[in-house]
Amino acid sequence: MDKKIELLQTKREEASLGGGTARIESQHKKGKLTARERLHFLLDEGSFEEIGMLVTHRSTDFGMEKERYAGDGVVTGYGTVNGRLVYVFSQDFTVFGGSLSETHAEKICKIMDLALKNGAPVIGLNDSGGARIQEGVVSLGGYADIFYRNTMASGVVPQISAIMGPCAGGAVYSPAITDFVLMVENTSYMFVTGPNVVKTVTHEEVSSEELGGASTHATKSGVTHFACANELEAINHVKQLLSYMPQNCEEQTPRYDYESGDELRPQLNDIMPQNISQPYDIREIISEVIDESSFLEIHKDFAENIVVGFGRLAGRSIGIVANQPAFLAGVLDIHSSTKAARFVRFCDSFNIPLLVFEDVPGFLPGTDQEWNAIITNGAKLLYAFCEATVPRITVITRKAYGGAYDVMNSKHIGADMNYAWPTAEIAVMGAKGAAEIIFKREIQAATDPNEKWLEKEKEYSDIFANPYRAAERGFIDEVIEPSETRHKLIRAFKMLENKVVNNPRKKHGNIPL
Ligand code: HXC
Repeated sequence: MDKKIELLQTKREEASLGGGTARIESQHKKGKLTARERLHFLLDEGSFEEIGMLVTHRSTDFGMEKERYAGDGVVTGYGTVNGRLVYVFSQDFTVFGGSLSETHAEKICKIMDLALKNGAPVIGLNDSGGARIQEGVVSLGGYADIFYRNTMASGVVPQISAIMGPCAGGAVYSPAITDFVLMVENTSYMFVTGPNVVKTVTHEEVSSEELGGASTHATKSGVTHFACANELEAINHVKQLLSYMPQNCEEQTPRYDYESGDELRPQLNDIMPQNISQPYDIREIISEVIDESSFLEIHKDFAENIVVGFGRLAGRSIGIVANQPAFLAGVLDIHSSTKAARFVRFCDSFNIPLLVFEDVPGFLPGTDQEWNAIITNGAKLLYAFCEATVPRITVITRKAYGGAYDVMNSKHIGADMNYAWPTAEIAVMGAKGAAEIIFKREIQAATDPNEKWLEKEKEYSDIFANPYRAAERGFIDEVIEPSETRHKLIRAFKMLENKVVNNPRKKHGNIPL
């Protein structure tokens, strides 16, 4: 028996070294942790149970039968994060560069299947040279098996991808399907075709970092939701993200202890600038209204004209979508619409109530926007709100102009409670532009056209530059003092806790992609 146990121990020890100590050192020299070290920091101490530690590849081409490593380049299993079950896979770059073989893919699929059957999140730590070149099509098939499961699991269990190293070629499509992508500055990159191919095809010279590094994807493409300074920061963000989510689509969001106190925030009554055109940072309002330090902003550096993120209100998770007057006046454009739409759909999939702060001058005009399909892309956000069945509340702080008024979770598209501050202006457009159009002839005929314009602007503004027309119609449920916002929201979300809405039965909708 002792001998048999010794054999097991030897096998386990070998497996735990992956591609061997020299390659582990090389990984460390690059400033990267190993697959197992990452799991050590992610999971609660002692909670990890490995599955498939002794799996090896089956390849015999190119002398591969002589080079086999237990685990085959990916560590898979389950454990807990803050006491809650998660399924994990962590690619091991020390074994064939973490490349994906048939068996490597099978291991990932196995834990994805378990996650789906048992209703818990899947976290992938990616660090891979892509398809195992020696295996050819078998490896491509393995990727497709994963993509299929990513899609089947979408909306059933949360899926998070942390990119800790290379992620190139078709391999990028697994993270892209998952709910959240995190990247590490300087050591990770994602691209469909690398710099060499780019140079051959388009003659552009670009570095890996510039083409597909964390900053690029956090600011330009929006592919990643977080650009993290280092691996530990990425791991901490994964844990933070999980804290707002239920385990699966059947569960309610986790609830944190909360002691109610004075919920009035008098300082909010002075937060709005006197001048309608003056910017302010919507994050200041968000942090006054939600539970202290509970805001986790997502996609912080991408499409900054809209702010999205998780927060807590009286201990319960909410998803926040807010126009940002401090950036492009909070206008809606292609990127801000798609950014917010995807976030709204995530929240709706996982029963996370939605809170919207609205201060929006409309959609961004211009050929760039029109030719790149602001119509289709703006419709994504509209569609996402329309189909969302979670509790939904809007607070209009200032401008709610034009089509953007409808889109930003208006009563008409299914919001449950719509509040407005006394500073709200709910109209087809700003008073200046409106006066110019509807009083064009009178202005032109006047002895002093400018004075006439100002007079008509004031006339329009007196009628519409307030929340009361909308409140008279019931499009706004209540005009509230800014200081009351937190208090009202806590009560309203509690009132909506048992909301049940069933959209019409269908196979699935056809969101304008
Ligand atoms: C097999 C691979 C590998 C791969 C790396 N290795 N990539 N083995 N298949 N795809 C091995 C190397 O041979 C080496 O083995 C070890 O991993 C580390 O690689 P290095 O090149 O020494 O590391 P580094 O200098 O850090 O460079 C990393 C790299 C580079 C940039 C990822 O290895 C690379 O370019 N690899 C090939 C990438 C690629 O073209 N993949 C296929 C993409 S197409 P030793 O024994 O020396 O340690 C694809 C399609 C997916 O993925 C389609 C899905 C639908």
